[in-house]
Amino acid sequence: MSIHVNTDHFWMPFTANRQFKAKPRMLVSASGMHYTTDDGRKILDGTSGLWCVNAGHGHPKIVEAIQKQAATMDYAPAFQMGHPKAFEAASALVSIAPEGLNRIFFCNDGSEAVDSALKIALAYHRVRGDGLRTRLIGRERGYHGVGFGGIAVGGIAGNRKHFGPTLPGVDHLRHPLNIAQNAFSRGLPEHGAELADELEQRMLTLHDPATVAAVIVEPIQGSTGVILPPKGYLQKLRSICDRYGILLIFDEVITGFGRLGAPFAADYFGVVPDMIVAAKGLTNATVPMGAVIVRQDIHDTFMDAAPENTIEFYHGYTYSGHPLASAAAVATIDVYRSEQLFERAADMAPYFEDAAHSLKGLPHVKDVRNLGLVCGIELEGIPGKATARASDVFLKCFWDKGVLIRTTGDIIALSPPLIIEKSQIDQMFGAIAEVLKAQKAVPEFDSATA
Ligand SMILES: Cc1ncc(COP(=O)(O)O)c(C=O)c1O
Repeated sequence: MSIHVNTDHFWMPFTANRQFKAKPRMLVSASGMHYTTDDGRKILDGTSGLWCVNAGHGHPKIVEAIQKQAATMDYAPAFQMGHPKAFEAASALVSIAPEGLNRIFFCNDGSEAVDSALKIALAYHRVRGDGLRTRLIGRERGYHGVGFGGIAVGGIAGNRKHFGPTLPGVDHLRHPLNIAQNAFSRGLPEHGAELADELEQRMLTLHDPATVAAVIVEPIQGSTGVILPPKGYLQKLRSICDRYGILLIFDEVITGFGRLGAPFAADYFGVVPDMIVAAKGLTNATVPMGAVIVRQDIHDTFMDAAPENTIEFYHGYTYSGHPLASAAAVATIDVYRSEQLFERAADMAPYFEDAAHSLKGLPHVKDVRNLGLVCGIELEGIPGKATARASDVFLKCFWDKGVLIRTTGDIIALSPPLIIEKSQIDQMFGAIAEVLKAQKAVPEFDSATA
């Protein structure tokens, strides 16, 4: 029996509101690898919620830490006052961050973390007397949240077009997705590292390199449908940035916290950026929290430049280092370590890869790409009905197969919690395979009942 709730008043984010409200998909509880719906069905979580519940749902140690903190101290001001949990959370995050990145700026989510990182980059150059560096370079199809800074450096047209001019002085690298050459790559694609050379050959020629403050990229472009960096690509970006004194920012909101079987993609790729943007898995998504993980000398530049007893960086949020989020982050990082979840993800990745590539040859499957516990399955779109094919698979997986997947355009993106078992990997890919096999060449779509 489904629970009746008035759905009129909540304007849902990134949602087809009218379709959803015609037949709501309501989740009412969660535990481990599963959600439960309002009509009592168990749904396998193939997406870690929104790429964020890396340790699985309802972990008792994280729940306990949040409950205890709520009962001890609900809130403390973040400006000019402190509380121990925020400092503990920063130290815990540093303990799993790449060496040298050891100063943490807290905020509430990925979008704020992106905007904070961009502001740190711009202000850093300014305080060290290099104020000409005001340009930012992102990448086509990049997703850096929904703040004005994030949509400016982001490269998803739909997220930008309604909002007028954003930041000036922003340019975009081309994205490296190349299905013609790299379809069905297992792990990193072979072709395309030379696209990183564009940064030097095109962007820095067009714009004086002395005017560029930072380059921001997701090591793997997640939200746009799992675009992997070709072999050697990130290394090239690093060395070009080094050559011209440009800061390199990795947006690891998705790739952080074990998604690739290492704490961060920076560790996995052996490429250390100057700042890492983190959120989502930082608290296992229990309490919203974002963070910028900053190279120490960048932080120290601010400390050295400001007069004594004055604020060094004019930026922050009422909830920076919120006590509940901080308690959740400390407990979450402890769970990742004590349960060796990053190692577990690395061990499970080959099985996940084989299962993903078992879809090759099924109807409509144009590409499968994967790394760690993330995978993208690109489908042939239906002419004139972009997104309809993948959306149909999503709905059938949810209603008929009890599996939650995520789609973007005509791409299915999977990113299960790191605790997933082999049988659940089979269930997830098995469900998608069955739906694809049953899908008609041009499925009928009824948005009210879909
Ligand atoms: C790479 C990346 N950056 C930033 C964000 C924005 O995070 P949030 O939705 O927490 O603001 C996301 C969200 O999916 C993301 O994937």
